[in-house]
Amino acid sequence: MKTEFLDANPFALQQAAQRLQAHEVVAFPTETVYGLGADATNETAVAKIFQAKGRPADNPLIVHVHARNQIAHYVTDISPMAQALIDQFMPGPFTIILKSNGTVAPTVTAGLDTVAIRIPAHPVARDLIEAAALPLAAPSANLSGKPSPTNATHVYEDLNGRIAAIIDGGATGIGLESTVVDATGDVPVILRPGGVTKQDIEQAVGRVELAGELTEQEAQPKSPGMKYNHYEPDAPLVLITGDSAFFQQHINTYQQEGKKVGVIASKELLTQLDADHTYACGSKDHLEEVAAKLYYALRYFNDTDVDIILAEIFTQEGIGAAIMNRLSKAATYNKKQQ
Ligand code: TXA
Ligand code: MG
Repeated sequence: MKTEFLDANPFALQQAAQRLQAHEVVAFPTETVYGLGADATNETAVAKIFQAKGRPADNPLIVHVHARNQIAHYVTDISPMAQALIDQFMPGPFTIILKSNGTVAPTVTAGLDTVAIRIPAHPVARDLIEAAALPLAAPSANLSGKPSPTNATHVYEDLNGRIAAIIDGGATGIGLESTVVDATGDVPVILRPGGVTKQDIEQAVGRVELAGELTEQEAQPKSPGMKYNHYEPDAPLVLITGDSAFFQQHINTYQQEGKKVGVIASKELLTQLDADHTYACGSKDHLEEVAAKLYYALRYFNDTDVDIILAEIFTQEGIGAAIMNRLSKAATYNKKQQ
């Protein structure tokens, strides 16, 4: 299949919308990461997403709509707490899990009785969904297990020849995926930290829980995505705590073993380190910048000869929770043996 690059102009969006109506899959920009969209009501279209990504069938997809009044078409039981979350955070980098009313294709929800809904704030994403007049099932537009794409080139690297089209809307803003919140109970539960922080949600609705490090069996019914390998760079990744001297010791030890060492760190730490390849992902004092650059950093080392990547451990405050969640999942000691 030839993958076509489309601009984000109204004419091209119409073309993309027609492809979606014809049950093709199309990658599009959102403010978090690029998504790989298909008609969420059509089994054939949804199957193409799983196939293009190599995604396990038991990992459900987020359904993207363009306006709040669309949500009620796909869910039942919107509690006052859930409504408050919708009013406060949608559109935005926020995904809400609610009871499904069965409208979307069963493969979208992977057989769960709940459905994940998001309204992107990105104008191209919303215009596309509206033009297609369809709810779009859309995971991140990367090969399963790889870092999520934060520009159209990343999508092309992973999915060229596997999807109908890529809409090039430039770099995404936030750079990490949406916050996923289960709002089916009395208290909202954060299943995946993201652009909307725990503190933001507390301010909006009071109490909020964070799904802890669940065992694989516990995690499965809650958020199937938790149990798979994620965000993998080609070389193994190790997280290093401590000061710059301690970090440098690790670099030296690997180099003495004959390894080429890459480092992902804040510019503050990097000025004190000496390694083979480095990627400065912004300042410790501007974690939004670190978030926006993290997936670039993970992909950057794939084009180098590093044998191992060492990454700085950031604070868990604010968006730091999402940064550390992704880095921990990318880290080698968290990998499942396959
Ligand atoms: O920012 C984002 O959320 C991006 C953009 C494209 O919208 N999408 C994204 O999708 O990150 P994906 O498929 O890569 O991650 C969706 C996550 C997975 O961890 C999945 O298991 C979880 O949401 N999920 C989806 N439906 C669920 C459900 N009904 N219950 C629990 N978790 C669900
Ligand atoms: Mg993903």
